[in-house]
Amino acid sequence: MTSQFPAWSRLRLRQTEHLRDLVAETGFSIAQLIQPIFVSDKITGSEPLRGLGENARHGPAAVLDAIARDVDAGVRHFMLFAAPADKQTGHLTFDHLASNVSRIKARFGGTIHLWVDVCLCSTTSHGHCCLFEPDGTMALGPTLEAISDAAVTAAAAGADGVCPSDMMDGRTSAIRQALDARALGRVPIMSYSTKFSSQFYGPFRDAADSAPQFGNRRTYQIDVRSRRDAIASSVRCAREGADLLMVKPALTSLDLIAPIIDATSLPTGAYQVSGEYAGLAAIAEQGFADFDAALLETLLVLRRAGGAFVITYGARRGRAMGLA
Ligand code: PBG
Ligand code: ZN
Repeated sequence: MTSQFPAWSRLRLRQTEHLRDLVAETGFSIAQLIQPIFVSDKITGSEPLRGLGENARHGPAAVLDAIARDVDAGVRHFMLFAAPADKQTGHLTFDHLASNVSRIKARFGGTIHLWVDVCLCSTTSHGHCCLFEPDGTMALGPTLEAISDAAVTAAAAGADGVCPSDMMDGRTSAIRQALDARALGRVPIMSYSTKFSSQFYGPFRDAADSAPQFGNRRTYQIDVRSRRDAIASSVRCAREGADLLMVKPALTSLDLIAPIIDATSLPTGAYQVSGEYAGLAAIAEQGFADFDAALLETLLVLRRAGGAFVITYGARRGRAMGLA
């Protein structure tokens, strides 16, 4: 697979120990787990998230304490979801990304690797991952511009990687070009490359303040019945210059990890999404399973399926699960 953008393409994932550990092809450690973290400019302090155990949504100051605790627990990779104080209409701005990313990086520097989700759904008043024309059809061009703006804003503020989760055609190459044009060629893109329309995102939509106000996401997320479409989606992201690929939800994508790696040779991780994690929490709460043992079991199966890394709400339980 040759990239359209050869500069940095082989070097990007070798820049830091965090990145090299994340994509090492053997062994399994906390260094290969990514902890999602939610910040909202609308709140102060922290609010628990229904169904997600010890996960919470934090205000801009409280998020620093939450990350510090996770760093003490051994977490090195974080995936930041930031929501602005007010929902926006029309031209979107991403000041909330800039301020939160730079505050976090000012405090933690290279101790952590900060991935930033760059979707539009927590920012727009309608809660969709795209923008719309006045007649209600998807406005693809303006959407790609807005997502690229978000990525450049996050990267310029110090993000160590950007993660487009919108599923719009062409977003990976639009972001790559926008980053490269601003001397941000070193910043890796982790594309949500095979992302299904799913019932398992429920708890997340409260957490990220991103529930669609009308309709659903089936016009842009992948249909769970379609294997070839699901693999082709990751292959396209690879051709567009993604450095890392990801399948999501983990459970409903297990069979796709190996064929995607075969087709692209790119490190491919899995996102164990909010509903999957909430399911584990619920059976443990009923006394039917030991939570950490059940969580570890799912992570090992993802590794068995070929997953390079896992985004999980339980990354901070790595040591409790017996990982180093
Ligand atoms: C939105 C986004 C979603 C998730 C990550 N980014 C939800 C969705 O697409 O509806 C889901 C994560 C989770 O459920 O843990 N772009
Ligand atoms: Zn979105």
